[in-house]
This record gives sequence, C-alpha cells and structure tokens, in this order.
Amino acid sequence: MTRVIAVASGKGGTGKTVITANLGVCLAEMGKDVILIDIDLAMANLEIVLGMEGMPTTLQDVLAGEAKVEDAIYTGPGGVKVIPAGLSFDRLKSADPDLIKDVVAQLLDKTEFVFLDCPSGLSRISLVGLESAEELMLVVNPDISSVTDALKTKIVAEKLKTKLLGIVINRWTKSGFEMDRKEIERVLGGEILAVIPEDPEVKKSVSFGQPVVLRSPECPASKAIRELAKKIAGIEVEKKEKKKGIFGFLRR
Ligand SMILES: Nc1ncnc2c1ncn2[C@@H]1O[C@H](COP(=O)(O)OP(=O)(O)O)[C@@H](O)[C@H]1O
Ligand SMILES: [Mg+2]
Repeated sequence: MTRVIAVASGKGGTGKTVITANLGVCLAEMGKDVILIDIDLAMANLEIVLGMEGMPTTLQDVLAGEAKVEDAIYTGPGGVKVIPAGLSFDRLKSADPDLIKDVVAQLLDKTEFVFLDCPSGLSRISLVGLESAEELMLVVNPDISSVTDALKTKIVAEKLKTKLLGIVINRWTKSGFEMDRKEIERVLGGEILAVIPEDPEVKKSVSFGQPVVLRSPECPASKAIRELAKKIAGIEVEKKEKKKGIFGFLRR
C-alpha cells in the first residue's frame, strides 16, 4: 500500500520543502521506497534544496501532457526518488494542475511513500494536492499567524476527507514569545510529530544544495528530522475512507 502524504501549511516559508526533502532522504536511508513530488509549480524549489536542478523532464512536462510520469522520476541523495516541478515560466502556462491527481494515481502501489510538497495558501493546486493525498502533515512555525493559517488548511483537508497525520513545529527558538507545544496541539487538534529547532545548519545546507541530514547529520535539526522519519515509518494508517471529488467540494 502506498501512503500519500501532503506536506502543507497555510503560511509560506514555514519549512515544508526543507522538511519534505530531508524526511525523504532519511526514509530512503532507512530502506523505504519514497517519491517526493514538488507540486509548488509557481515557487518550485525542492530540486534546489536537493541539488537536483536542471533535470530534462519535470512535472511541468507531465502536466502539459508532453511526458510520462516515469520519465520525470530521478534518484536523488540517499536514494530518495524525486519528481521535480521544473523551473520554466513558459512551460508553467501549459501545465494543467488537475492532472496532479492522475500522477499520484499512477504511483499507487509502485512505492511505499509519496510526499507532496504543497504550495502555501489554498490555491487550486493546493486543493488538488490535499485531495490527492490520504494524509496531511502540517508544518507550522510557533507563531499565531502560522498556526491559524494551518488550521484553515486542516479544515479544508478534512472536507476533502484527507486525515491529519500530525503537526511538525519548525524553527523553534525557545525565545519565550512563541506559542507552546500544548497550545499548538490544542488549536490544531492533532499530534505533534516533531519539534525542529531553528538551526543555522539548515540555511547553510540550503545554500549548498545539500540535505542537512547528510551535510550535518549530528546538528539538532537533523536529529529531529531523523526522529520524525522513524515516527512516520512506524505509524500504522487506517484503511482509507471513500473520498469525495474536489469538484463536489468546490461546489459545496
Ligand atoms: N529549522 C530551520 N532552521 C533554520 N532555517 C530554516 C529552518 N527551516 C527552514 N529554514 C529556512 O527557511 C527557508 C524556507 O523554507 P522552505 O522549506 O523553503 O519553506 P516553505 O517550503 O514552507 O515555503 C529555508 O530556505 C531555510 O533557509
Ligand atoms: Mg516550499
């Protein structure tokens, strides 16, 4: 069975892409078969974080109906498989976001995990991403605007019958002005899967195009992401409920 997990937030810049990339590398290193898909078509950067930019066939080509899904899958660091979004503005215009559902459907039972690195906000692409997934992992920063935006995403996901797997709190600084773990758990009504600290090694790794879990495996952020990977690998998921279509949801 393939677990399809949407990594989403609400607010931008909470760390979805960094966490998707590094989580994927950790799971692949644990021997899991993982495909990461960058569905943030307008602000694609998963390929940059993984040092994989410039691949000849990308999700943009698949969504434009000009390439097959299997031609856009590349093996990245640690053995994680990646479908990059592509960085061409011209190509973006002909991409049909609704085809993301078909892309995911074609990967079912061919891998253990599919992670969708979603855009921020609740654009049409985000809705298609949430609709295509069975599980939602919310990435929040410990501040009120990040958490309230994530709550909106959770509510929409639930209407689409996508169940909350849990919450990752990223960029924790212990400054004393942050929302605490319990408050975040209460507002979002889900389990905190990990608390990842603010860590300068993350920024450095991004600028070098290398996953932090490989570049600085012993830094605090890497340790927290490895624990998150173990937790996700160990979670049993319930059999999926029948999902209603996105068009029904939009109409409602
Ligand atoms: N735990 C962290 N510690 C320090 N910097 C971080 C951390 N997580 C993310 N960042 C920084 O935030 C930037 C934005 O993260 P990104 O994953 O691209 O956000 P999103 O995909 O949610 O828009 C990264 O490029 C990185 O510099
Ligand atoms: Mg991103």
